[in-house]
Amino acid sequence: MTTSQSMLKQFPPMGIYEVLFSFLDSAGTYMGEPGTHPWAQGFPLTNQLPGGPEIPGKVCFDSADLKYPSATGIQPLLDAIRDYYNEFYDAGITSDNVAVFAGGRPGIFAAIAFLEQQIPILIEETEYTPYYDLLHLLNRDHTIIPSNETNAFRPGMEDYRNAASKLDSDNCFIIKSNPCNPTGVAWSPADLKAMVDFCTSGNNGGLIDEAYEFFRLPEPQSAIQHVDDINSTNLFIAGAATKGLQVPGMRIGWMIAAEKNIEIFRNYSSIGMGGVARPSQLYVAQLLEKQRVRHARSAIGEFYGEQRERYRQGLESLGIELFTGEGGFYHWGRLPNDLTAKKLNERLFQHNAAILPGTLCDMYRRGNEGPHANLIRFSFGPLDPATYESNMEILGKCID
Ligand SMILES: Cc1ncc(COP(=O)(O)O)c(C=O)c1O
Repeated sequence: MTTSQSMLKQFPPMGIYEVLFSFLDSAGTYMGEPGTHPWAQGFPLTNQLPGGPEIPGKVCFDSADLKYPSATGIQPLLDAIRDYYNEFYDAGITSDNVAVFAGGRPGIFAAIAFLEQQIPILIEETEYTPYYDLLHLLNRDHTIIPSNETNAFRPGMEDYRNAASKLDSDNCFIIKSNPCNPTGVAWSPADLKAMVDFCTSGNNGGLIDEAYEFFRLPEPQSAIQHVDDINSTNLFIAGAATKGLQVPGMRIGWMIAAEKNIEIFRNYSSIGMGGVARPSQLYVAQLLEKQRVRHARSAIGEFYGEQRERYRQGLESLGIELFTGEGGFYHWGRLPNDLTAKKLNERLFQHNAAILPGTLCDMYRRGNEGPHANLIRFSFGPLDPATYESNMEILGKCID
């Protein structure tokens, strides 16, 4: 090795960034900049929604807030998160069951990084892109639960039980986004309860990632509503201000877990993070004020429910076969006439637009030879409703 070579372990950026970088190469501008059509990206509108609560333009802090924050979060935010889950889901948690991170991903990363190496992981075949990266980066063996066209991307508890019964271990750990990114499939209350029962029985555990909690019709849901005593579990519920509270730039996420596990996050923070910016935490605490957050939950569901329906009709009229569920802000579907997502993106780049190729949600990463080659994730999260016609026009030109 020479000094001009990196001494660091080499790994590529998370898949979504692959699209962003190739878009930059081709279009000469960043996806998301004015004039681009960011259908590949997973961010919500960051302005006030029609019928939605105001988004504050200010945060107040004083010199005391310039001190180091406490390792797992400042008290006003921990209390606001605790009150939120207790109010809407009768969770029975305390602020000692909450750890704050700089966004949703760092919390998920920490939970998987510190999961004992011998515990087998179960994860669905079609899932949130960075799960793949972090499982590989952290060298974690995992068993894949079928989630493909054969089961309409709707695996159930039977699939999990089957997979668990074949493991050479008396326990397992589930990683699952619900509603699922990219499919939008949201488990029914009964199924979610069965999942929670499974994750909290015997020596099992699980991480339910609820980044899209608000984006579900008829109403938001959380796994916490099915938990009797979080302290006697190894369940981790990931939440974030990123999507439902519409503030991805604040970089606030959290984990709800047993006190014994929050302590590990605290220890980690003291070694590797040093807490999260106080102004961001103060800002998000005000977004969680009871009446405001009640308003946000219903406005998000309603607004994005309408967008989901509108785009459902539009995409289906172009011959895309949709498998989308009732949650999230994505459509998930198969392109017509053997068109691959890669080819579609080459065409879309000419119009400053891009979708996320389904291959980046394939937890086997079989690329264009695999079954995800013709699948796309179309994000309507960042789209102003006024752009619907122009978006459909571009898609119409690129899908034959
Ligand atoms: C399933 C899922 N989990 C977690 C996150 C958290 O995102 P962030 O780290 O940007 O808060 C996202 C964002 O895209 C997501 O889609």
